[in-house]
Amino acid sequence: MRQAGRYLPEYMKIRSKNSDFLKLCFNPDLAAEISLQPIRRFDLDFIILFSDILVIPYALGQEVKFLKNHGPHLNSITSKKDLNYTNLNKSLDKISNIFETIRILHAKKNKKNLIGFCGGPFTVLNYMIEGGTSKTHSKIKAFIKNKREQANDIIKIVTEISIEYLKKQIESGANYVQIFESWAGLLEREEYIEFIIKPNQQISEKIREFSKHTKIIHFPRGSRKNYKIFAEEVQCDVLSLDQTYPKELPRYLREKGITVQGNLDPQELLKDADRVEEKTKEVLEKFKSNNHIFNLSHGILPKTKISNIEKVIKVVRDYETSR
Ligand code: CP3
Repeated sequence: MRQAGRYLPEYMKIRSKNSDFLKLCFNPDLAAEISLQPIRRFDLDFIILFSDILVIPYALGQEVKFLKNHGPHLNSITSKKDLNYTNLNKSLDKISNIFETIRILHAKKNKKNLIGFCGGPFTVLNYMIEGGTSKTHSKIKAFIKNKREQANDIIKIVTEISIEYLKKQIESGANYVQIFESWAGLLEREEYIEFIIKPNQQISEKIREFSKHTKIIHFPRGSRKNYKIFAEEVQCDVLSLDQTYPKELPRYLREKGITVQGNLDPQELLKDADRVEEKTKEVLEKFKSNNHIFNLSHGILPKTKISNIEKVIKVVRDYETSR
């Protein structure tokens, strides 16, 4: 969950010399270096590729910029015709430097796991239609309601390219892939089935067909009661949970042999060290009967103190050795 980021001085040092965020994602040496920074500092078990989910709209011909203090900005589109999209391979060529980053990381990863990733198709569509981060999500909600055909056309393209994109990441050396469906929580009922379940199902099936050994992590953030439907319908090795999951879910996941990932609230890391320790232990206890990958429930916030992250890691490691 944003292991590399603004809370790390060594990241900020590289970032201050590289004002174009996307260019940084497409610079294999620097992107590999940034991916390894949190590993050197904290000796984490998993390396996550430094890149962004918005490289897919970029590959499809949309303009994508990361503006200072404003997050991402994309030019507005209302149908697939507004994209400069001709074919899959041409689009993937535009972002092929990312595969080189993965090859570098693969060569340097020692025994660590290497996570490749993409955005969930609906989440990517959300940014494509909203043109950036939105509080109300009014455009995407209206779009899937009133322009369902156009929405499905774009989702289909995003799903197809995401599958090929993940396959190439696996070929280059990723042994886990995570699908960040960060805005799954916006949808209910038929819309959730159509725009969240179906595309994620397709991605999982194709990846499983392509590679039996790659582990698939799904993160349908904010899914609340729909987490269960998601776990029933979509093949996942690991399900990443935020705070909204229903109480009975861990038991169901245990029975199904799905590993839990999560779910310390990143807000907690802004508080004092004792509170951080208490909340970390709470997470460990909650999932002690599950196969569990300890993680945050969302990205690390820029103001997070390094000492609090060290605290979390120490508590988790101590807990591990005491069992
Ligand atoms: O953990 C890692 O560092 C891996 C790389 C990674 C980034 N983004 C780098 C990044 C990953 C896995 C992502 C995923 C991502 N990107 C998601 C899904 C997860 C989530 O947060 O819900 C989404 C929605 C995005 C889109 C995105 N990228 C936004 C909305 C922003 C701005 C957010 C903000 O806090 O301002 C980004 C920028 C971004 N991507 C940063 C990093 C390290 C911020 C750093 C910077 O500006 O230098």
